[in-house]
Amino acid sequence: TIFSASSTAPVNIATLKYWGKRDKLLNLPTNSSISVTLSQNDLRTLTTASCSADFDSDKLWLNGKLESLESVRSQACLADLRGLREKVEAKDESLPKLSQYKLHIVSENNFPTAAGLASSAAGFAALVSAIAKLYKLPEDMSELSKIARKGSGSACRSLFGGFVAWEMGDLENGEDSKAVEVAPLSHWPTMKAAILVVSDDKKDTPSTSGMQQTVATSDLFQHRITEVVPKRFEEMKKAILAKDFEKFAELTMKDSNSFHAVCLDSYPPIFYLNDTSKQVIKLIHRLNEQEGKTIAAYTFDAGPNAVIYYDEINEKKVLGLIYNYFSQVAGWEKYSKDVSTLDKI
Ligand code: DP6
Repeated sequence: TIFSASSTAPVNIATLKYWGKRDKLLNLPTNSSISVTLSQNDLRTLTTASCSADFDSDKLWLNGKLESLESVRSQACLADLRGLREKVEAKDESLPKLSQYKLHIVSENNFPTAAGLASSAAGFAALVSAIAKLYKLPEDMSELSKIARKGSGSACRSLFGGFVAWEMGDLENGEDSKAVEVAPLSHWPTMKAAILVVSDDKKDTPSTSGMQQTVATSDLFQHRITEVVPKRFEEMKKAILAKDFEKFAELTMKDSNSFHAVCLDSYPPIFYLNDTSKQVIKLIHRLNEQEGKTIAAYTFDAGPNAVIYYDEINEKKVLGLIYNYFSQVAGWEKYSKDVSTLDKI
């Protein structure tokens, strides 16, 4: 017999960035963070987990390619999930002993991995969620988020839809470092995100080593995690609950800039933004100035691609300006390829 279950998890984009670990093995962060999870219909990972007494080893196929499950991160997730399943089995003798079977995991992204989007977040969230379903574990997303977190920090936020907070916690074992819902997407359905693929290069400093370098060398970093982020975390949650776009947008842009500032303050410095990213930043500020109010916000992760947040009522204005600008700057031909992926929440 083969037992199977499938699950999807969408990509999430942080509006208050996670950058820095206090424990590398458990992926415990140095600050709390907030993100918006894109809708299930857009960028997501679909994962099917199967197990059988006939399988002789754990295996993972990612986008059709056999990948290793040997990493400490993947092993930590599998061990936790098997541990929870053992508890379920101990309570009910009649259940098949799935915890003892090897797993075959088939995972597929519906977006190009090379686009530099945070695929590990959706990937680990979908993996944990599919295995939890297969094992019939209680659907407690905050509990499962602690397991996904061990796979990749930001993955813990992809277990929830809508507006999500990752509370850093302060326990050494990480039991209180989990994702919680701030508000479902239905709370603010007019909020949209556009992803501008500025470059599909994968040559940046990976976030895992980048944040370690920042923690070890940046002087600004201490200021960010002690003074700036704790206050911003509370303010951003408030802005989301009040659907205050201007406040939400201002905090989002400031936090993106603060994160890239600590990257630049690392030694040697880490650069994620390129000239096109900087043009997008200027363009959004110019647009907001012209409008006399903030109608769009940018944010950038560990790469040059921009995510623009706006209210759907302003979609034509915001996306129209971006299209027009980049078609004029260097001729549409050059940029149409780069700015071709406009994905919405
Ligand atoms: C800039 O979650 O990829 O996207 O925990 O080492 O896997 P690991 O790092 P990861 O870092 C994400 C960094 C970020 C900000 C964010 O998503 O909050």
